[in-house]
Amino acid sequence: MSWTVEPRDPRTQSEGVVAGYAHTARRWPSQPLVVRPHDTGELSGPAKLERRLPPSKADLAGRGASRALGQLIHVRARVVDEDGAPVPGALVEIWHCNSAGKYLHPNDSSDSPPDPNFRGNARLVAGDGGLVELRTIKPAAYSVPDTDGWWRPPHIHFSVWGRVWLSRLVTQMFFPGDPLNDHDAILNAVRDPDARARCIARMAPTAGGPGNALVYEYQLVVRGRKAAPRMP
Ligand SMILES: [Fe+2]
Repeated sequence: MSWTVEPRDPRTQSEGVVAGYAHTARRWPSQPLVVRPHDTGELSGPAKLERRLPPSKADLAGRGASRALGQLIHVRARVVDEDGAPVPGALVEIWHCNSAGKYLHPNDSSDSPPDPNFRGNARLVAGDGGLVELRTIKPAAYSVPDTDGWWRPPHIHFSVWGRVWLSRLVTQMFFPGDPLNDHDAILNAVRDPDARARCIARMAPTAGGPGNALVYEYQLVVRGRKAAPRMP
């Protein structure tokens, strides 16, 4: 069986080298990519990825005396294909900074304080409806080192693995109404306003929130013309 997927529209994707973000010049290829046929090593695996990379608890916030500082939120992310059909079984990795803007990562050299009760990252498997749900705290904005006053808006990083090694998408989810969204070099490297809007979660009615958390709903399209832009 064969099928075709609508190619991504370049306007809906990041420009690659982002003005004002020096790292992108080193990360983005300066030469055209060499097209190489894919072989079975790339198209037949990984088998049972969730066994090699086991899922974690869907809770970064903790409870009681072990509760992370910050505003409790509940993220409902739905992984869908180009037709809006759910992608059950997708392996979704999620990470973000704490409520002071500090990542749980050795490369974060900022003087923002760590939070010993904040887990920092989760690995989840999408259910039948393509849904992953995460209880966490809202990440803070943080300033980007060695820039002229660039602050990243609050955001959550997502990595989605599909059924083969080549089907991986890394992107970011943003929060509605944050004034920093309008100035973020990474979000605004996507030229199409509708594509940028798809990167921003929707706040659901508070009454529907489990455990009195604010609920954010986010649809993550993994391929086709409305695919989420690749972001670091
Ligand atoms: Fe980040």
